[in-house]
Amino acid sequence: MAFVDRTWIELSTTALYHNLYQVRQAIGPEVGIAAVLKANAYGHGWRQLWPLLASQRLRAIAVAHGHEALALRQDGYRGPLIVLTHWLPNQLGRLVSHQVELVVWDFESWKHVQYMARRLRRPVQLHLKLDTGTSRIGFVERDLPSLRRFLSTHPSSVTIRGIFSHLANAEEWSTQRTNGQIKYFTTLTSKLRITADEYHLACTAAALRYPASRLSFIRLGIGLYGHWPSTAIERWARGRPIRLQPVLSWYSRLSQVKRVPRGAAVGYGSTVQVRRPTVLGLIPVGYSDGYDRRASNRWWVIVNNRRAPVIGRVSMNLLTVDLTDVPGPVAGQRLTLVGTGVSPEAFSRAVGTIHYEVLSRLHPDIPRYPV
Ligand SMILES: Cc1ncc(COP(=O)(O)O)c(C=O)c1O
Repeated sequence: MAFVDRTWIELSTTALYHNLYQVRQAIGPEVGIAAVLKANAYGHGWRQLWPLLASQRLRAIAVAHGHEALALRQDGYRGPLIVLTHWLPNQLGRLVSHQVELVVWDFESWKHVQYMARRLRRPVQLHLKLDTGTSRIGFVERDLPSLRRFLSTHPSSVTIRGIFSHLANAEEWSTQRTNGQIKYFTTLTSKLRITADEYHLACTAAALRYPASRLSFIRLGIGLYGHWPSTAIERWARGRPIRLQPVLSWYSRLSQVKRVPRGAAVGYGSTVQVRRPTVLGLIPVGYSDGYDRRASNRWWVIVNNRRAPVIGRVSMNLLTVDLTDVPGPVAGQRLTLVGTGVSPEAFSRAVGTIHYEVLSRLHPDIPRYPV
């Protein structure tokens, strides 16, 4: 298993179930949960996660794109499945045959679905996406009259299962815009004068902080994986009875431990010349694995419970760390790239991005093991 890998990811099933339980406690029993497994389950590995979630009372698994839904079906997932963001017309026949619930975001996408529903005579369940202020995909207010007319002509095999939108500011400290967007969603849905079985609006941050956004079910992404959406939401949660536990840890092992003399230059561009005799550790991981190159000379990994600074530039398949102050490092030993002592949140701040990106860019080829 893990000891044969140059690098690997471990997924804590205890943490995963803990997070689901915590969120359920927070939102109450009446509200459903769609687990968001898009972007390779935020880098955690959709293939490993869906079997762990299959036993959990979920409204659905949600993904962003058509190909992600098709891959889940091909892998054996038979439960409810929603595509939230985009699908291609050439995927539609397979998506409909596999009973995938589909986002419709404009009149073109709606026409494609109607055509396919008629052609295949298969039931299709749609989720109408409304743009309530994020200016991403979705119908806007001035589309509503045409949309009403359009909807009156839909074939009986097409059901409007859901009407939904996405919030732009739920992760921020200020509540003003989010409260406005929640209200606007209600206004638009009542103006539309079409009833759907379900309404959904909340991501993790909104689900926890804005009870009015919870509606039929929440779309739980980052919280499922044990991370707060932002420092603002983490601050808001302090003193409240909710704790999250990170699911993912990322490991590698030292491929070489070596001493270099004072003045040795390290890595491409010789960005560092060491100021003392130095013990270097070589790690067979680089930016092609998703280890951000901006961590060069700026971050650390954990070896023997100590921080070992990344020294020189991160290259495509290797990174180098300074082990001089780490007791007893040996080639072959395990080290932590992301996990205890190296959170993706702190990493992302150091490299100028967000933890969503750090996690979701972990290369899909890295082996992932539920533990
Ligand atoms: C439409 C939609 N819903 C829900 C989510 C989940 O958000 P979060 O990971 O903050 O819970 C996302 C993620 O960006 C999304 O795009």
